[in-house]
Amino acid sequence: MSEHTLVIIKPDVVEAGNAGKVLARYEEAGLTIESMELREITGEFADQHYAEHLERDFYPPLREFMTSGPLIPLILSGEDAIARVRALNGATDPKKAEAGTIRADFGESGPRNAVHASDSPESAAREIALWFNR
Ligand code: CMP
Repeated sequence: MSEHTLVIIKPDVVEAGNAGKVLARYEEAGLTIESMELREITGEFADQHYAEHLERDFYPPLREFMTSGPLIPLILSGEDAIARVRALNGATDPKKAEAGTIRADFGESGPRNAVHASDSPESAAREIALWFNR
């Protein structure tokens, strides 16, 4: 089934100059870029995106990091895009991410894990509406 998913190339990747390499991983896998923008976000916007994590211990440093510099939200589409993007990304913790995944190759640790991606059709719909008004 063709799906849409929301990906964020995080500020660590943009700052390191690796955004193009990360984008190439998705394109080489046959996913289509539907929307994409370089932008900076406020803490209030980060709170909306990460609404389910606001009370978690890891959230304050994540909020700080996501507002520290430019990031790139994008909408990707394709067959089973949500699961395929998550497989390309690898485990949330870059130290546990499988070799050859985006987080293993470009992430560090904690919030600095290179990318975010929607984890379900419901979160994809919510995140696409939040980031791109569509
Ligand atoms: P992301 O996909 O952006 O969604 C939540 C983020 O919180 C996650 O990637 C990580 O960067 C960060 N994070 C840090 N610690 C944890 C944790 N224990 N569980 C989930 N996410 C964590």
